[in-house]
Amino acid sequence: MAPTSPLFVTLYGIAALVALLYFRPRRQSHVNSFPPGPKSPSMPMLDAWIQYEQWGREYGELVYIREHNMLILNHAHVAIDLLEKCARLYLDRAMTQVMKLSGFNEVLSLEVNILACPLTKAINTRINGGETGGFSSKIFRQSSSHRFYPAQYNKISQYLHSLITVPEEFMQHTMLLSQGLIYSALYGLDVSSEDLLYKKAIEAIAMLGRAVLESYPALERYPWLRFTPSWFPGCGFHEIANKFRQNMADLGTIPFDIAVNNLKTGTGTSLIAELALESEGNPLDIKNIKAMGAVSLLAGADTTMSSISAFLLTMVQHPDVQLKARAEIDRVIGRGRLPKFEDRRSLPYVESVYRELMVTIFLKVVTTFGPLFGVGLNMLSFRMCDCPQYLVRAMSRDPNVYSEPNTFMPERFLDSPDGPFTSINDILAFGFGRRVCVGRYMADNTVWLAIASVLATLDLQKAKDNEGNEVDLPGEYTRTFFRHPKPYQSSITPRDQQARDLIKLATAMVD
Ligand code: HEM
Repeated sequence: MAPTSPLFVTLYGIAALVALLYFRPRRQSHVNSFPPGPKSPSMPMLDAWIQYEQWGREYGELVYIREHNMLILNHAHVAIDLLEKCARLYLDRAMTQVMKLSGFNEVLSLEVNILACPLTKAINTRINGGETGGFSSKIFRQSSSHRFYPAQYNKISQYLHSLITVPEEFMQHTMLLSQGLIYSALYGLDVSSEDLLYKKAIEAIAMLGRAVLESYPALERYPWLRFTPSWFPGCGFHEIANKFRQNMADLGTIPFDIAVNNLKTGTGTSLIAELALESEGNPLDIKNIKAMGAVSLLAGADTTMSSISAFLLTMVQHPDVQLKARAEIDRVIGRGRLPKFEDRRSLPYVESVYRELMVTIFLKVVTTFGPLFGVGLNMLSFRMCDCPQYLVRAMSRDPNVYSEPNTFMPERFLDSPDGPFTSINDILAFGFGRRVCVGRYMADNTVWLAIASVLATLDLQKAKDNEGNEVDLPGEYTRTFFRHPKPYQSSITPRDQQARDLIKLATAMVD
């Protein structure tokens, strides 16, 4: 019997119905011990934070969604209590069935069954609170951040140069900076936007978005549906999962092979290639190194891009902030060189701009997604009995914590009793507890240096039309997994000839 014949489809349908009734979710007996929440709500997929915020107002800091056995944490102090202080209990991460089908749970370190995970070394390190051992923590720990400095200086100089050369393509330049930096810092590779490696990462990031955002509620409710054949109606998730699996394999293997080959032939060295050499003969370690590289590109490129592109837009929207930050840089550093990491603590206003960006802008705009997936920036899910979630975006808009949460106001950091230079752990955008962003020290440095360098050299303004009138700024963001500003026109120019010369000189030193 052909698999597409009507009889086959009917028999298959009956079998599916029987299985559906047999495996239907059973009520849980311990439900009464959970906090209040809405009964049988329809769960929002995009912009879920708006609904979560609303439930927070109705039910309080902890909202329990019985149908999904999900707990929403609507306040930073609750998230810190549960995810930092009781981190061992709330380590796990929920994932969609499509993510699991694609094998993403095998490359990401913190899936439910932690011992089955290939990045166990990294996890154990983090559980034990140490910063040694484990590939991710070895590469990305704070004490190793300086190893990325040369790549960061080089890529940001090239970025400035691209911005003044082809200013209208500022979004592409920002993506190339964010991605190219990871390829350069980890693999010692210099990628351009024409390279296969660049295109592979873009494809994989897009597929990650599809795997998270495209909704298959029946599959989530009845995971056994994953055994249905891909030709069966409504089973498009197989195609997404297969493509994403292939994307991740390519992302892990292709740059890894090039980097190792470069090291062996003496044409270049890199962190990944050195790790690979140390791990030669240990297939599990090699697999973990490849997975770490792929996850770094997936988790690090678009997030960095989102924050830097949100910064560019914000500066066009807030020329007063731009001028004030630039004046601070001129006063402290002068006009003769680009900012360096050693300048950071002498630039409190620039730091305040960065902190404010990460809180009020970044958290409003970066990723939004459905209730079942747990990697993300404004809504992150954690397993308690099953799946507690916390919503950083709502937390960052809590008027008791941030007055006028919808206003971009770096002064709130500058004038706060602790000042702007508090711990990196205060930047909620990097997550909480044991699942905090592994690459946060690198990301923090990259975003700060990009901000300081742009402020020191460039003038960002609204574009003007032929009559010399300012073109309106919609200031909107895409509704994709990682959100970016929607295309808009702006004017990006060097501040003056001195700034242009400085950029040229810095780029010439890179070349
Ligand atoms: C501004 C930029 C960035 C932000 C806001 C950010 C934020 C986050 C957050 C919130 C998580 C935790 C997700 C969860 O709890 O499920 C995360 C995970 C992660 N991030 Fe970042 N990230 C950034 C840049 C980077 C960079 C540059 C890298 C590496 C090159 C990186 C590597 C990772 C990795 C590997 C994970 C997964 C860690 C794990 O297995 O638990 N991130 N990031």
